[in-house]
Amino acid sequence: MGSKLVGCGSAVPKLIVSNADLAQIVDTSDEWISVRTGIHNRRILSGNETLGSLAVEAANGALEMAQVNAREVDLIIMCSSTPDDLFGSGGQIQRDLGCKDAWTFDITAACSGFVVGLITATRFIKGGGFKNILVIGADALSRYVDWTDRGTCILFGDAAGALLVQACSSDEDGLLGFDVHSDGHGQRQLTVLARDERMEITSSMNGAPLFPPKKKSFSCIEMNGKEVFRFVVRCVPQSIEAALDEAGIPTSSIDWLLLHQANQRIIDAVSTRLDIPSDKVISNLANYGNTSAASIPLALDEAVRSGKVQPGNTIATAGFGAGLTWGSAIVRW
Ligand code: ACO
Repeated sequence: MGSKLVGCGSAVPKLIVSNADLAQIVDTSDEWISVRTGIHNRRILSGNETLGSLAVEAANGALEMAQVNAREVDLIIMCSSTPDDLFGSGGQIQRDLGCKDAWTFDITAACSGFVVGLITATRFIKGGGFKNILVIGADALSRYVDWTDRGTCILFGDAAGALLVQACSSDEDGLLGFDVHSDGHGQRQLTVLARDERMEITSSMNGAPLFPPKKKSFSCIEMNGKEVFRFVVRCVPQSIEAALDEAGIPTSSIDWLLLHQANQRIIDAVSTRLDIPSDKVISNLANYGNTSAASIPLALDEAVRSGKVQPGNTIATAGFGAGLTWGSAIVRW
Protein backbone atom coordinates (compact mmCIF):
# COMPACT_ATOMS: atom_id res chain seq x y z
CA MET A 1 0.00 0.00 0.00
CA GLY A 2 1.34 3.49 -0.91
CA SER A 3 0.58 6.98 0.42
CA LYS A 4 -0.18 10.04 -1.68
CA LEU A 5 -0.35 13.66 -0.58
CA VAL A 6 -3.77 14.96 -1.61
CA GLY A 7 -4.35 18.22 0.24
CA CYS A 8 -2.68 20.88 2.33
CA GLY A 9 -3.72 23.87 4.40
CA SER A 10 -2.28 26.40 6.82
CA ALA A 11 -3.20 29.15 9.26
CA VAL A 12 -1.29 31.96 10.99
CA PRO A 13 -2.24 34.35 13.81
CA LYS A 14 -3.35 37.91 12.99
CA LEU A 15 -0.74 39.76 15.04
CA ILE A 16 2.40 40.64 13.04
CA VAL A 17 5.53 41.40 15.08
CA SER A 18 8.28 43.06 13.05
CA ASN A 19 12.00 43.28 13.75
CA ALA A 20 11.43 46.96 14.56
CA ASP A 21 8.83 45.94 17.19
CA LEU A 22 11.42 43.63 18.81
CA ALA A 23 14.01 46.42 18.79
CA GLN A 24 11.64 48.29 21.14
CA ILE A 25 11.94 45.56 23.81
CA VAL A 26 15.49 44.13 23.43
CA ASP A 27 18.84 45.50 22.32
CA THR A 28 18.70 44.47 18.64
CA SER A 29 18.07 45.95 15.19
CA ASP A 30 16.24 45.11 11.98
CA GLU A 31 19.62 44.92 10.25
CA TRP A 32 21.12 42.39 12.73
CA ILE A 33 18.09 40.11 12.59
CA SER A 34 17.72 40.31 8.79
CA VAL A 35 21.40 39.64 8.09
CA ARG A 36 21.87 36.84 10.67
CA THR A 37 18.54 35.06 10.14
CA GLY A 38 16.65 36.33 7.07
CA ILE A 39 13.59 36.94 9.27
CA HIS A 40 11.61 40.22 8.97
CA ASN A 41 8.28 39.43 10.62
CA ARG A 42 6.67 36.70 12.69
CA ARG A 43 3.06 36.03 13.80
CA ILE A 44 2.12 35.66 17.46
CA LEU A 45 -1.10 34.29 19.02
CA SER A 46 -3.31 36.98 20.56
CA GLY A 47 -6.90 37.56 21.69
CA ASN A 48 -9.07 34.46 21.43
CA GLU A 49 -6.68 32.62 19.12
CA THR A 50 -5.43 29.24 20.31
CA LEU A 51 -3.09 26.72 18.78
CA GLY A 52 -6.11 24.44 18.38
CA SER A 53 -8.05 27.06 16.39
CA LEU A 54 -5.10 27.47 13.99
CA ALA A 55 -4.73 23.69 13.66
CA VAL A 56 -8.43 23.27 12.85
CA GLU A 57 -8.30 26.04 10.21
CA ALA A 58 -5.22 24.46 8.60
CA ALA A 59 -6.78 20.98 8.65
CA ASN A 60 -10.02 22.25 7.11
CA GLY A 61 -7.96 23.77 4.27
CA ALA A 62 -6.33 20.39 3.62
CA LEU A 63 -9.68 18.53 3.70
CA GLU A 64 -11.22 21.05 1.32
CA MET A 65 -8.34 20.80 -1.15
CA ALA A 66 -8.46 16.99 -1.01
CA GLN A 67 -12.28 17.02 -1.24
CA VAL A 68 -12.42 14.62 1.68
CA ASN A 69 -15.21 14.77 4.26
CA ALA A 70 -14.31 15.04 7.98
CA ARG A 71 -16.10 11.71 8.60
CA GLU A 72 -13.76 9.95 6.13
CA VAL A 73 -10.65 10.76 8.22
CA ASP A 74 -9.52 7.72 10.23
CA LEU A 75 -6.43 9.13 11.96
CA ILE A 76 -5.26 12.61 13.04
CA ILE A 77 -1.59 12.95 13.99
CA MET A 78 -1.03 16.23 15.84
CA CYS A 79 2.65 17.21 15.81
CA SER A 80 3.30 19.87 18.44
CA SER A 81 5.60 20.65 21.35
CA THR A 82 3.39 23.49 22.60
CA PRO A 83 -0.15 22.05 22.79
CA ASP A 84 -3.12 23.81 24.37
CA ASP A 85 -3.43 20.72 26.58
CA LEU A 86 -0.37 18.88 27.87
CA PHE A 87 -2.33 15.61 27.80
CA GLY A 88 -2.54 16.02 24.02
CA SER A 89 -4.51 18.34 21.77
CA GLY A 90 -5.55 15.76 19.14
CA GLY A 91 -8.89 15.11 20.88
CA GLN A 92 -9.89 18.76 20.86
CA ILE A 93 -8.97 19.05 17.18
CA GLN A 94 -10.84 15.84 16.30
CA ARG A 95 -13.94 17.24 18.06
CA ASP A 96 -13.75 20.68 16.42
CA LEU A 97 -13.15 19.23 12.95
CA GLY A 98 -16.06 16.80 13.30
CA CYS A 99 -13.80 13.82 12.52
CA LYS A 100 -16.05 11.59 14.62
CA ASP A 101 -14.61 8.30 13.37
CA ALA A 102 -10.93 9.25 13.64
CA TRP A 103 -8.38 7.98 16.14
CA THR A 104 -5.87 10.64 17.25
CA PHE A 105 -2.60 11.09 19.09
CA ASP A 106 0.09 13.77 19.53
CA ILE A 107 3.76 13.60 18.53
CA THR A 108 6.36 15.74 20.31
CA ALA A 109 9.52 16.11 18.25
CA ALA A 110 10.05 19.90 18.19
CA CYS A 111 11.01 21.20 14.74
CA SER A 112 11.33 17.64 13.37
CA GLY A 113 7.73 16.95 14.39
CA PHE A 114 6.08 17.32 11.00
CA VAL A 115 8.53 15.07 9.14
CA VAL A 116 8.20 12.46 11.93
CA GLY A 117 4.39 12.73 11.68
CA LEU A 118 4.39 12.42 7.90
CA ILE A 119 6.60 9.31 7.98
CA THR A 120 4.46 7.84 10.79
CA ALA A 121 1.29 8.39 8.71
CA THR A 122 2.75 6.54 5.73
CA ARG A 123 3.73 3.61 8.02
CA PHE A 124 0.15 3.35 9.36
CA ILE A 125 -1.14 3.28 5.77
CA LYS A 126 1.46 0.71 4.72
CA GLY A 127 0.49 -1.45 7.71
CA GLY A 128 -3.07 -1.49 6.38
CA GLY A 129 -6.44 -0.31 7.61
CA PHE A 130 -5.96 3.47 7.35
CA LYS A 131 -7.17 5.44 4.33
CA ASN A 132 -7.18 9.16 5.16
CA ILE A 133 -4.69 10.55 7.69
CA LEU A 134 -4.47 14.20 8.66
CA VAL A 135 -0.95 15.20 9.69
CA ILE A 136 -0.98 18.56 11.48
CA GLY A 137 2.14 20.51 12.44
CA ALA A 138 1.30 23.33 14.86
CA ASP A 139 3.36 25.24 17.39
CA ALA A 140 3.15 28.39 19.48
CA LEU A 141 6.72 28.79 20.70
CA SER A 142 5.82 32.37 21.68
CA ARG A 143 4.37 30.74 24.82
CA TYR A 144 7.88 29.75 25.96
CA VAL A 145 9.99 32.60 24.61
CA ASP A 146 12.00 34.70 27.06
CA TRP A 147 11.16 38.15 25.67
CA THR A 148 14.26 39.58 27.37
CA ASP A 149 16.64 37.17 25.56
CA ARG A 150 17.63 38.74 22.23
CA GLY A 151 19.42 35.51 21.20
CA THR A 152 16.12 33.59 20.96
CA CYS A 153 13.10 35.94 21.00
CA ILE A 154 13.87 37.17 17.48
CA LEU A 155 13.64 33.71 15.93
CA PHE A 156 10.25 32.21 16.64
CA GLY A 157 6.65 32.62 15.47
CA ASP A 158 3.35 30.74 15.79
CA ALA A 159 1.50 28.87 13.02
CA ALA A 160 -0.19 25.66 11.91
CA GLY A 161 -0.03 23.60 8.72
CA ALA A 162 -1.70 20.37 7.66
CA LEU A 163 -1.44 17.66 5.04
CA LEU A 164 -3.91 14.97 4.09
CA VAL A 165 -2.17 11.66 3.35
CA GLN A 166 -4.29 9.12 1.50
CA ALA A 167 -3.86 5.39 0.83
CA CYS A 168 -3.15 4.47 -2.80
CA SER A 169 -1.60 1.62 -4.79
CA SER A 170 2.14 1.12 -4.19
CA ASP A 171 3.07 2.25 -7.71
CA GLU A 172 1.52 5.67 -6.95
CA ASP A 173 3.43 5.94 -3.62
CA GLY A 174 4.24 9.59 -2.84
CA LEU A 175 6.87 8.77 -0.20
CA LEU A 176 9.93 7.86 -2.23
CA GLY A 177 12.44 7.59 0.61
CA PHE A 178 13.12 8.73 4.16
CA ASP A 179 15.81 8.92 6.84
CA VAL A 180 15.43 9.70 10.58
CA HIS A 181 17.84 10.22 13.51
CA SER A 182 18.09 11.25 17.17
CA ASP A 183 21.11 12.13 19.28
CA GLY A 184 20.29 12.67 22.94
CA HIS A 185 23.88 13.75 23.64
CA GLY A 186 22.88 17.11 22.15
CA GLN A 187 19.68 17.40 24.21
CA ARG A 188 21.04 20.29 26.31
CA GLN A 189 21.62 22.46 23.22
CA LEU A 190 17.93 23.37 22.91
CA THR A 191 15.44 22.94 25.73
CA VAL A 192 12.20 24.03 27.39
CA LEU A 193 12.66 22.25 30.72
CA ALA A 194 10.10 21.54 33.42
CA ARG A 195 11.06 24.01 36.13
CA ASP A 196 12.97 22.15 38.84
CA GLU A 197 11.63 23.31 42.17
CA ARG A 198 13.47 20.74 44.29
CA MET A 199 15.83 23.29 45.83
CA GLU A 200 12.93 25.42 46.95
CA ILE A 201 11.03 22.39 48.24
CA THR A 202 13.86 20.86 50.27
CA SER A 203 14.95 24.16 51.82
CA SER A 204 11.39 24.85 52.94
CA MET A 205 11.27 21.52 54.77
CA ASN A 206 14.79 21.42 56.24
CA GLY A 207 15.90 18.88 53.65
CA ALA A 208 12.86 16.63 53.96
CA PRO A 209 10.78 15.99 50.81
CA LEU A 210 7.66 18.14 50.65
CA PHE A 211 4.29 16.48 50.19
CA PRO A 212 2.10 17.30 48.40
CA PRO A 213 4.60 18.61 45.81
CA LYS A 214 4.29 22.09 44.30
CA LYS A 215 2.78 22.56 40.88
CA LYS A 216 5.46 22.54 38.16
CA SER A 217 5.70 24.92 35.26
CA PHE A 218 8.06 25.19 32.30
CA SER A 219 11.14 27.33 31.80
CA CYS A 220 11.68 29.43 28.67
CA ILE A 221 13.47 28.31 25.52
CA GLU A 222 17.21 27.98 26.13
CA MET A 223 19.42 27.47 23.10
CA ASN A 224 23.05 27.27 22.12
CA GLY A 225 22.45 28.80 18.68
CA LYS A 226 25.96 28.24 17.34
CA GLU A 227 25.95 24.52 18.25
CA VAL A 228 22.48 24.00 16.77
CA PHE A 229 23.61 25.76 13.60
CA ARG A 230 26.71 23.53 13.30
CA PHE A 231 24.72 20.35 13.97
CA VAL A 232 22.18 21.17 11.25
CA VAL A 233 24.72 22.05 8.59
CA ARG A 234 26.68 18.85 9.38
CA CYS A 235 23.78 16.36 9.65
CA VAL A 236 20.93 17.53 7.42
CA PRO A 237 22.68 17.28 4.00
CA GLN A 238 23.80 13.72 4.90
CA SER A 239 20.26 12.82 5.88
CA ILE A 240 18.79 14.16 2.63
CA GLU A 241 21.42 12.22 0.68
CA ALA A 242 20.50 9.03 2.59
CA ALA A 243 16.79 9.56 1.80
CA LEU A 244 17.63 10.19 -1.87
CA ASP A 245 19.67 6.96 -1.90
CA GLU A 246 16.69 5.08 -0.52
CA ALA A 247 14.49 6.70 -3.16
CA GLY A 248 17.05 5.67 -5.79
CA ILE A 249 17.11 9.13 -7.39
CA PRO A 250 19.91 11.71 -7.80
CA THR A 251 19.87 15.19 -6.24
CA SER A 252 19.35 16.63 -9.72
CA SER A 253 15.84 15.04 -9.83
CA ILE A 254 14.63 17.21 -6.95
CA ASP A 255 12.23 19.93 -8.08
CA TRP A 256 12.12 21.63 -4.66
CA LEU A 257 14.15 21.69 -1.46
CA LEU A 258 11.88 22.45 1.50
CA LEU A 259 13.74 22.58 4.80
CA HIS A 260 12.37 23.41 8.24
CA GLN A 261 12.43 27.22 8.20
CA ALA A 262 14.88 28.06 11.01
CA ASN A 263 17.41 30.47 9.54
CA GLN A 264 18.07 31.61 5.95
CA ARG A 265 21.80 31.03 6.47
CA ILE A 266 21.04 27.38 7.37
CA ILE A 267 18.85 27.00 4.26
CA ASP A 268 21.59 28.53 2.08
CA ALA A 269 24.36 26.39 3.63
CA VAL A 270 22.41 23.13 3.20
CA SER A 271 21.39 23.90 -0.39
CA THR A 272 24.99 24.86 -1.25
CA ARG A 273 26.32 21.59 0.23
CA LEU A 274 23.79 19.63 -1.81
CA ASP A 275 24.49 21.75 -4.90
CA ILE A 276 20.82 22.68 -5.27
CA PRO A 277 20.33 26.07 -7.01
CA SER A 278 18.49 28.80 -5.08
CA ASP A 279 15.59 28.88 -7.57
CA LYS A 280 14.68 25.35 -6.41
CA VAL A 281 14.63 26.31 -2.73
CA ILE A 282 11.34 27.16 -0.97
CA SER A 283 11.64 29.80 1.75
CA ASN A 284 8.99 31.87 3.52
CA LEU A 285 11.01 32.43 6.69
CA ALA A 286 11.11 36.20 6.14
CA ASN A 287 7.38 36.47 6.87
CA TYR A 288 6.90 33.95 9.69
CA GLY A 289 10.23 33.18 11.43
CA ASN A 290 10.78 29.70 12.86
CA THR A 291 7.34 28.15 13.43
CA SER A 292 8.73 24.78 14.58
CA ALA A 293 6.52 21.81 13.53
CA ALA A 294 4.34 24.13 11.41
CA SER A 295 7.07 25.52 9.17
CA ILE A 296 7.19 22.78 6.51
CA PRO A 297 3.42 22.37 5.91
CA LEU A 298 2.98 26.17 6.05
CA ALA A 299 5.63 26.73 3.37
CA LEU A 300 4.32 23.79 1.32
CA ASP A 301 0.77 25.13 1.44
CA GLU A 302 1.88 28.57 0.24
CA ALA A 303 3.98 27.04 -2.54
CA VAL A 304 1.13 24.78 -3.71
CA ARG A 305 -1.52 27.51 -3.62
CA SER A 306 0.72 29.99 -5.48
CA GLY A 307 1.28 27.39 -8.24
CA LYS A 308 5.00 27.05 -7.52
CA VAL A 309 4.74 23.37 -6.59
CA GLN A 310 2.95 21.45 -9.36
CA PRO A 311 1.40 17.96 -9.34
CA GLY A 312 4.11 15.35 -9.91
CA ASN A 313 6.91 17.54 -8.47
CA THR A 314 9.52 15.84 -6.28
CA ILE A 315 10.25 17.60 -2.98
CA ALA A 316 13.14 16.92 -0.60
CA THR A 317 12.05 17.98 2.84
CA ALA A 318 13.92 17.87 6.18
CA GLY A 319 13.10 18.75 9.77
CA PHE A 320 15.63 19.27 12.55
CA GLY A 321 15.84 20.63 16.05
CA ALA A 322 15.56 19.88 19.76
CA GLY A 323 16.24 16.36 20.94
CA LEU A 324 18.45 16.56 18.99
CA THR A 325 16.33 15.07 16.19
CA TRP A 326 16.50 15.30 12.43
CA GLY A 327 14.93 13.54 9.48
CA SER A 328 14.28 13.80 5.76
CA ALA A 329 11.60 12.65 3.39
CA ILE A 330 11.57 12.64 -0.40
CA VAL A 331 7.95 13.10 -1.44
CA ARG A 332 5.99 13.51 -4.66
CA TRP A 333 3.25 16.13 -4.62
N1 ACO B 1 20.65 41.45 18.14
C1 ACO B 1 21.88 41.99 18.22
N2 ACO B 1 22.95 41.28 18.64
C2 ACO B 1 22.74 40.00 19.00
C3 ACO B 1 21.48 39.38 18.95
C4 ACO B 1 20.40 40.18 18.51
N3 ACO B 1 19.16 39.70 18.41
N4 ACO B 1 21.59 38.11 19.37
C5 ACO B 1 22.88 37.91 19.67
N5 ACO B 1 23.58 39.06 19.46
C6 ACO B 1 25.00 39.31 19.66
C7 ACO B 1 25.62 38.35 20.65
O1 ACO B 1 25.48 38.83 21.97
C8 ACO B 1 27.05 38.35 20.20
O2 ACO B 1 27.69 39.51 20.68
P1 ACO B 1 29.23 39.48 21.12
O3 ACO B 1 30.00 39.14 19.87
O4 ACO B 1 29.45 40.87 21.63
O5 ACO B 1 29.33 38.42 22.17
C9 ACO B 1 26.96 38.49 18.67
O6 ACO B 1 25.67 39.06 18.42
C10 ACO B 1 27.08 37.17 17.95
O7 ACO B 1 26.16 36.24 18.53
P2 ACO B 1 26.05 34.77 18.07
O8 ACO B 1 25.12 34.02 18.96
O9 ACO B 1 27.44 34.24 17.89
O10 ACO B 1 25.38 34.96 16.61
P3 ACO B 1 25.17 33.92 15.49
O11 ACO B 1 25.77 34.40 14.24
O12 ACO B 1 25.49 32.51 15.92
O13 ACO B 1 23.57 33.99 15.26
C11 ACO B 1 21.59 32.73 15.75
C12 ACO B 1 22.70 33.60 16.30
C13 ACO B 1 20.79 33.56 14.75
C14 ACO B 1 20.69 32.31 16.90
C15 ACO B 1 22.20 31.51 15.03
O14 ACO B 1 23.17 30.90 15.86
C16 ACO B 1 21.18 30.48 14.65
O15 ACO B 1 20.25 30.74 13.90
N6 ACO B 1 21.35 29.23 15.11
C17 ACO B 1 20.42 28.17 14.79
C18 ACO B 1 19.27 28.22 15.71
C19 ACO B 1 18.12 27.39 15.28
O16 ACO B 1 17.91 27.14 14.12
N7 ACO B 1 17.35 26.97 16.26
C20 ACO B 1 16.12 26.33 16.05
C21 ACO B 1 16.20 24.86 15.85
S1 ACO B 1 14.61 24.24 15.60
C22 ACO B 1 13.84 23.81 17.08
O17 ACO B 1 13.85 22.65 17.47
C23 ACO B 1 13.03 24.83 17.85
